[in-house]
Amino acid sequence: MPAIKIYPSLLAADMGNLADACRTCRVGGADGIHLDIMDGHFVPNISMGPSIAAMADRAVDIHMHTHLMVTHPQDYIQAFRDAGADTILIHVESRCDVTEVLAAIRGMGARAGITLNPETPASAADPYIEAIDEILFMTVHPGFGGQSFMPDVLDKVRSIRDAHPNLELSVDGGINDETAAAAASAGINAFIAGTHLFGQKDMKAGIDRLRTICTGAYRTEITPS
Ligand code: DX5
Ligand code: ZN
Repeated sequence: MPAIKIYPSLLAADMGNLADACRTCRVGGADGIHLDIMDGHFVPNISMGPSIAAMADRAVDIHMHTHLMVTHPQDYIQAFRDAGADTILIHVESRCDVTEVLAAIRGMGARAGITLNPETPASAADPYIEAIDEILFMTVHPGFGGQSFMPDVLDKVRSIRDAHPNLELSVDGGINDETAAAAASAGINAFIAGTHLFGQKDMKAGIDRLRTICTGAYRTEITPS
């Protein structure tokens, strides 16, 4: 079974206290910090740039899981790698040569991943399996935190998990204790949560509970033959 990982999304943190928010994630036992990078073109919102990533990298020693919601990721991967990104995820729907950009990310020494929007079919991942360390499944339309989880995406997760038992599969959008359990049961092993985790009084308790729930629920919908 791949390791269960929990990544709080900094998008839901108090923007006036981002360095503190990074330290809260670290102290809370997060496996990394998820950074949502939006260009106002690929998605209808603008969020943070490489200088915020560099701030997070200075604030804490923790894995930086960087989700590029940008039309031209090839123009930004070096800047985010230089800022300390450890994983760089690009969208298959973006305008780039995806294979080339994934190779460039790995060439910089980072983990490379692809992200699939809710409507993008599972087959869109097929050409890239050898070139990636992770597939991120969007369970909301990207652009904003605080949206509702789209359970139909889990059909895609099941089919990819069946084909790739050890690949890192992550989920992003509307994750809380209940939706994380459903995602884990379908085969997700890495969980991004913004509103839910930053809404906890005690981040560590929230992460611990999510980890316990996801560990218990992982692939439970599979009936042994
Ligand atoms: C949405 C972002 C998500 C977002 C998740 O476009 O990719 O990472 O921060 O936020 P919640 O957990 O609030 O749905
Ligand atoms: Zn994200």
